[in-house]
Amino acid sequence: MANPTRQDKAAPVDDGAIQKALAEYEKNQRTYLEELKKLVRIPSVSFEGFDKQQVRKSGEATCDLLRRIGLDNVQLLEMPGAHPYAYGEWLKAPGRPTLLLYAHHDVQPAGDEEKWATKPFEPVEKEGRLWGRGAADDKAGILVHVAAIQSWLKTAGSLPVNVKILIEGEEEAGSGSLGDFLRKHRKMLQADAIVLTDTGNFETGLPSITTALRGIVVVNVEVSALKQPVHSGMWGGPVPDAAMALSKILARLVKDDGSIAIPGIYDKVKPLTDAERKSIAALPSDEKLFRKQAGMHEGVQLLGGRHPWEMNWRQPSLAVNAIQASSRKDARNIIVDSAWARVGLRTVPDMDPKDVEKRLTEALTRDPPWGVKVQVHKEGAGSWWYTSTEAPAFKAALKALRDGYGAEPVTIGCGGSIPFVDPFSKELGGVPALLIGVEDPYTNAHSENESLHLGDFVKATRSAIRLYAELVRVGGST
Ligand code: BES
Ligand code: MN
Ligand code: MN
Repeated sequence: MANPTRQDKAAPVDDGAIQKALAEYEKNQRTYLEELKKLVRIPSVSFEGFDKQQVRKSGEATCDLLRRIGLDNVQLLEMPGAHPYAYGEWLKAPGRPTLLLYAHHDVQPAGDEEKWATKPFEPVEKEGRLWGRGAADDKAGILVHVAAIQSWLKTAGSLPVNVKILIEGEEEAGSGSLGDFLRKHRKMLQADAIVLTDTGNFETGLPSITTALRGIVVVNVEVSALKQPVHSGMWGGPVPDAAMALSKILARLVKDDGSIAIPGIYDKVKPLTDAERKSIAALPSDEKLFRKQAGMHEGVQLLGGRHPWEMNWRQPSLAVNAIQASSRKDARNIIVDSAWARVGLRTVPDMDPKDVEKRLTEALTRDPPWGVKVQVHKEGAGSWWYTSTEAPAFKAALKALRDGYGAEPVTIGCGGSIPFVDPFSKELGGVPALLIGVEDPYTNAHSENESLHLGDFVKATRSAIRLYAELVRVGGST
């Protein structure tokens, strides 16, 4: 709890105060890990068809945590039909900058439980990592903010900055109500900078600040040819196969070299500047390491002919996330009546999401093989984002990362998406967004056997503690 006698004064940001907050954190590391485990035990899967009450439970558990560390005005923020956000604030440092801290408490589905070495929602510490769904993406992100805030409040009785903390509940499901949420709460969320703990480090122990995110357009495509499945011998030959038709439709989306074959799709892709190309080339990585980190089998080709990180961060890409036509379990001698796939297209600067959706839908529905019926439904979308690093806040973040990790930080892009970033940084007036997180290349986020590197979890928290002080040092203006 904040010391009530000092609540109206901002803490002096001298080195002594930082050291005290850091020392307090070292004493309590174990407690934060236990709090993280409590959150991981809640299966807060935000996807359709999963128990919504669990996402509410994790929202409430997050609020409880925010209250226990001494934040004010803690509450669930709700939009109709959407999973709740958890919110809290500490606004007792007049004249100091205000930070909007972000993470998300929802998770992706666990996937195939048989592929997990441990149970997805029973966190286990092993090999210096914490295993469990959401351990890294993004429940650790919540605890980084929480531990940093509490370490300051317990030692200085105050924070060097004002904070508003927002923990989203529908990020993994595409942040469908973000636009409405922003319109409703914009005023309350005004800040001088946004700090997100939901991205990764380029390598374990290598602190990284993310300056570009890809966007995404997700659609479901359903092909239908028959009223019901039929005997493949009795009817096969003259009767078209919906699974084959879908395969042909999907295969048309890419060329032999793996590039996307949808006309016009690359028209607006912004080329890298020389400086950006150099910055990628200077990163401590090569094709061999990239292949290993991605878990590619020997003999499987890298696509694109550009640096793999340029391909991943600044070129669009297409993935067939799932296909269904009958099922492996029910496989038998039939011609299937229908076939379904979920297709995701990652977008980059300066692609127009509406235009991409239109072109993707056209490509899927144009000229259906054998006259089969094709229906496409949009599932979700999020916009890409990128930033210059000129604002003083970036200097502060780099210093905090350097001191917190004891290593020189790098600036990276990200092949993934966080729908929150672009609309919020725009709506708040183009304020700097600092993307720093704990998802290292071995995290397996969204896959089975997700894990968090415990050493990086600690270093990220040390950096977060320092960040508040550094942001004050670069001046009230961020
Ligand atoms: N934390 C990730 C974003 C991310 C991906 C960071 C890769 C670092 C490396 C985030 O939770 C995420 O997975 N976002 C979704 C967004 C989608 C549902 C709109 C994604 O990228 O699939
Ligand atoms: Mn995430
Ligand atoms: Mn994720």
